Amino acid sequence: MIIFNNGKYKSLHAAQAGELERVKSAVENDQDFRPVYHLAAPTGLLNDPNGLIWDGEKYHVFFQWFPFDALHGMKHWKHYTTTDFIHYRQAQDLIPDELFESHGCYSGGALPVGDKIACFYTGNTRRPSDNQRVPFQNLAVFDKAGNLLGKRPLMENSPAGYTEHFRDPKPFFADDGKIRFICGAQRENLSGTAVVFEMNNLDDRPRLLGELAIPAFDNQNVFMWECPDLLKIDDQDLFIWSPQGKTREAHQFQNNYHATYALGRLDGLTFRAEHITELDQGFDFYAPQTFANTANRTILLAWVGLPDVTYPTDKYKWHSMLTLPRELRAESNRLLQRPAKEIYQNLTALESVSLTGETEIPDLDRAYLKFNAENQPFRLNFFSNDRQQTLTLSYDGNLLCIDRSQTDQTDWMEKLGGQRYCEIPNLQQVEIFFDRSVCEIFLNLGEKAMTSRFFIENRKNIVKTDRTLSIAIGHPRVIAVK
Ligand code: FRU
Repeated sequence: MIIFNNGKYKSLHAAQAGELERVKSAVENDQDFRPVYHLAAPTGLLNDPNGLIWDGEKYHVFFQWFPFDALHGMKHWKHYTTTDFIHYRQAQDLIPDELFESHGCYSGGALPVGDKIACFYTGNTRRPSDNQRVPFQNLAVFDKAGNLLGKRPLMENSPAGYTEHFRDPKPFFADDGKIRFICGAQRENLSGTAVVFEMNNLDDRPRLLGELAIPAFDNQNVFMWECPDLLKIDDQDLFIWSPQGKTREAHQFQNNYHATYALGRLDGLTFRAEHITELDQGFDFYAPQTFANTANRTILLAWVGLPDVTYPTDKYKWHSMLTLPRELRAESNRLLQRPAKEIYQNLTALESVSLTGETEIPDLDRAYLKFNAENQPFRLNFFSNDRQQTLTLSYDGNLLCIDRSQTDQTDWMEKLGGQRYCEIPNLQQVEIFFDRSVCEIFLNLGEKAMTSRFFIENRKNIVKTDRTLSIAIGHPRVIAVK
């Protein structure tokens, strides 16, 4: 075991006595924004969900974690298990302590192999002589109880033809039972792609099969694909990935980077897509991943955040959270995404409230709201404070707009603009989950989703409406982490 301790490339093994407790007390100074039913890191920065798997008895949730501050430093895999997405238990984390992961355990996925959990991940390393990034692809094996049994490198660099941006292996079983994994990559001509490998078993060496081709995807300006995930859903093939560099459009691809899906048929390594679109059109959503081994369900988690973006809570030494678990279904070439049934089962009884003018709603900032827009325009202002800050949701009969320009923003957030739009003709059902500084919106039973952070200090739990709306309100159960 090597104890890395080089600036921000510092592992948990190098924590000094009392150091994490001090970070924890900075986190606890945040009285406004820590979520109560979304999973966040105990301290520091969370990013991508990793190694998601159902082991037959419980879910394992890992995520990218830098424990010491709200910045992208040495990445660990924080590890929890849960049976219901309400009660979480800590399990053994993946801590970088070998040369093949000297600058962090980057993203990856998990596969059930016998009674073990095989986690494929990228070992981020830098060559000591010139600091050149060298990506390893590694394997870490856990038992179902969540203990790390061992880890080793599978590949010691990018294959020929690709740059040092080669990462995020997501494993799956091929139809013939062989193990495959797909990595996000950058070609030497600086365009983004994904590459598939195969192994007969975990002791085998990975063989490169080739690139995944998606002829229908406009890859212009795209310089990297991160976090690929290839799976079957409702008799179709689904490819989820995070392409970087897509040109911003008025009502799509409005963030710096995006999470995208393609639904269709996989024919060898060619993905014949019937539909390709952004997965979520809010301000903060990236690097989604589905759980392996869930048989009849497809459950997805994503990072409520974006690469590079800073948030007002960084000063409290914590940064972002995961989405609620989402259950996916494919219907007529479209993906539907809604919170998993466990979230609905753990809501308090819904109360009906008629909104006119201004209404105070106790605990609005950790509430579930549902109403029918009946395809009519509306304008809703959520929350207010003495600085007239508010979060606005409006619909004009075709576009839904979430506007956070009247809330606290960092320079980075401001740079990305104050409004996000979603085209949705015939808007009927609107569901909103507020959790202190995060809001997840689902439209028309999951046809579209918008996930965003928002920051309003000393807020009053008030809604203002320009139209009488009958809404149902409940409160999701607070999660417990042991
Ligand atoms: C996506 C990502 C991955 C990488 C990880 C590092 O957010 O950049 O490509 O493995 O984060 O934390």
